[in-house]
Amino acid sequence: MTILGIESSCDETAASVVVDGKTLVTNVVATSMDLHAVYGGVVPEIAARSHVESIIPVIDEAVKPVGWDSIDAIAVTYGAGLGGSLLIGVMSARTLAVTKNKPLYAINHVEAHVYANFLTETGGIEKPEQKSPQSPITNPQAATREWQLGDQTYTLPSTQPQFPLLALIVSGGHSQLVLFRDHFDYTLLGQTRDDAIGEAFDKVAKVIGLPYPGGPSIANAAKLGDPQKYQFPKANVQGASPALSELRFKIEDSRLKKQDLDPQSPTSSPQSFKHGYDYSFSGPKTAVLRLAQEIIGEDYTFPSFKLANRLSETQKNDIAASFQRIAIETVVDKTVKAYEEFSPKTVVIAGGVAANQELRRQLSDRIPTGIEYTDPKLCTDNGAMVATLGCFKAMRGSETADPYSLQIEPNLSM
Ligand code: KG4
Ligand code: ZN
Repeated sequence: MTILGIESSCDETAASVVVDGKTLVTNVVATSMDLHAVYGGVVPEIAARSHVESIIPVIDEAVKPVGWDSIDAIAVTYGAGLGGSLLIGVMSARTLAVTKNKPLYAINHVEAHVYANFLTETGGIEKPEQKSPQSPITNPQAATREWQLGDQTYTLPSTQPQFPLLALIVSGGHSQLVLFRDHFDYTLLGQTRDDAIGEAFDKVAKVIGLPYPGGPSIANAAKLGDPQKYQFPKANVQGASPALSELRFKIEDSRLKKQDLDPQSPTSSPQSFKHGYDYSFSGPKTAVLRLAQEIIGEDYTFPSFKLANRLSETQKNDIAASFQRIAIETVVDKTVKAYEEFSPKTVVIAGGVAANQELRRQLSDRIPTGIEYTDPKLCTDNGAMVATLGCFKAMRGSETADPYSLQIEPNLSM
């Protein structure tokens, strides 16, 4: 099953060809990030205009090595994302589905992020003897492999994730912890109550005067800073979502049934029903602003856009390191708790913030199973994740979308 995936939900115009949900054949990404950097964030109109300019060359480049005849179907992100940006990808995919006579699959962007982890090889060559020494961002327990594809190298997991699968999805627009029982069968365990983690990185970077996108800038500054210098608060969010309570009742029920047969079988304590997996980043984000005002000797009325000039490089690096530590700890704490409660076979991380090395380090330290992290290039937005999910939809006979009527859904949730 050979699928062309098209992605245009934010500021990346991307297209990729993936075979059988595991082989990356082409991966083309054009980003308008530089155009947004001067504004400190994505400007929707600029993003949409640059999708218009890039989408045809990007799709052409992705399809050229295989040819249209080998493409079995097209998959496209139809939500969540920026309306103007989504429209360009969806209208292109609809047109191509009609003119090239290919089935069309509508893809949820957040769900697709998880599927980047299913890619285990490329159409290029496997690089020999790459199993050790490990780079600092890979887990020594896990045997990732390195592949060459064109002029790019990809570090990919050696095996596909197995179910039940616990996925931590951390991007600029989403922060969610999801338990997959199988493909397309999942429960949202928890999510942010306010800012997504990537959004918090971007906003903190702006306050301390680091360039957009804030995630990589904070990660770089943090390497030079002291992560223990400042103690920012970690939000303690109470309560659990109704979907989570229902899942727990189901699990509890099946454990109780099992216990009738086997007196040694464990049951979870009713105490655990109180716990949820939601979290929040607005508190630590505001704490950074207040601290920055305080260390330059100003009060809370001092405008945030003037702060950066008054902070020293050391202060910026220490703030970046201390904020990164607490933000990453917040999501890792929840992931570890979910790992202990639900005993998944595989844990994966997905979304732009999954490229963060501190996240990979903390998770590997605290989760005993070897996590095979995928290449950071496949964590930020790309067409390969869309094509991979498209492959599983096609291989499992999921419903296709109508190329004459598929609409965008900017607020699509999981
Ligand atoms: O998944 P993505 O490319 O787009 C969305 O779907 O949102 O994620 C972009 C987000 C941005 O907020 C960016 O700052 C963050 O991912 N990001 C990082 C890193 N690389 C990108 N955050 C922390 N550390 C990184 N290395
Ligand atoms: Zn994304």
